[in-house]
Amino acid sequence: MTADIKPVAAGETVRVELGARGYDIVIGPNSLERLGTYVDALDKGARLAIVADASVAALHGETLRQAVKGKAEIAAEITVPPGEASKCFGELERVSNALLDARVERGDLLIAFGGGVVGDLAGFAAAILRRGIRFVQVPTSLLAQVDSSVGGKTGIDTRHGKNLIGAFHQPALVIADTALLDSLSERHFRAGYAEVAKYGLIGDEGFYSWLEGNWRDVFAGGPARIHAIATSCRAKAATVAADEREHGQRALLNLGHTFGHAFEAATGYSDRLVHGEAIAIGMVMAFGFSAELGLCPADLEDRVAAHFQAVGLPTRPSHIPGGHNAGALPGPEGMLDLIRQDKKVERGALTFILAEGIGRAFVRKDVPDDAVLAFLSNRLRQ
Ligand code: GLY
Repeated sequence: MTADIKPVAAGETVRVELGARGYDIVIGPNSLERLGTYVDALDKGARLAIVADASVAALHGETLRQAVKGKAEIAAEITVPPGEASKCFGELERVSNALLDARVERGDLLIAFGGGVVGDLAGFAAAILRRGIRFVQVPTSLLAQVDSSVGGKTGIDTRHGKNLIGAFHQPALVIADTALLDSLSERHFRAGYAEVAKYGLIGDEGFYSWLEGNWRDVFAGGPARIHAIATSCRAKAATVAADEREHGQRALLNLGHTFGHAFEAATGYSDRLVHGEAIAIGMVMAFGFSAELGLCPADLEDRVAAHFQAVGLPTRPSHIPGGHNAGALPGPEGMLDLIRQDKKVERGALTFILAEGIGRAFVRKDVPDDAVLAFLSNRLRQ
């Protein structure tokens, strides 16, 4: 079913073209207040099951309830503790049982209300509940609005690494209310900004240059923020439409993630290093590694690092709290072990997203272990 979604005032709607599974991303301030109208357009009279981040529910739950009042019945409201630790088997079991306790049916709509953690966890619960129910993403963090809520990757973490258990399950709709970002901490806004900059670094030098000149306006809110989010969503939507299941170019979206995920694993997915910070360091390292392999000019690493530094993002392993201390991060061999759990590993061969220039990223398979080890030996000291 396709909804006839009109953009909110001063906002934009981006379409993810996936045929019968295609959907809209509605971007703009206060779009949450119109959730009932959007749900009505999607499926008149649908029953809703809300799975929300507990902090988001406390702040904005009433707005959501008012938005659907008189339009849709709420069959269940389930909250999830904030933080990456909730993306686990235990929470998946608890949420799934709560949905079944509330007799949530296959025809009902699950609303994932929160940042990337809730989107991934609730999306995965939707993918497997009664063999799959539809869900709507209502992302409340910048990171979720520009990346994790779009594209249908859902899942949980295990002791082996991040997102290793999951499913592709596309949402039926994404509502990105940009006004909700005003209640985000500066640290988490910055972390989400790393994903915005990623789209420029992967394939759009013009956008990256625009961000270098206008990032303060993006942080301040208003039209620049909406432009940055919509540009990011358009880039993501095009990539997902071309390669939904990551057989090829979707892997580009993992620029900075191979090193970044290893740092997240090494720091226990804790507040010591949040995802966007990890990939900021990872993206700088991806440009450094590309230069070391002779693939791009050496000064590009400095250009990326300079922008991230200006924004306030970490750019080196030593910027990770405790990262300087001997033993606080694994050595090169330990990092390589963590990298081996990456989903891009094929028959044991390491795949990296590297770059020939700003906006010119590419996928490189068969990167030799010794090249990675040599690079890590040097970089983990910085
Ligand atoms: N966040 C990477 C992807 O959606 O493919």
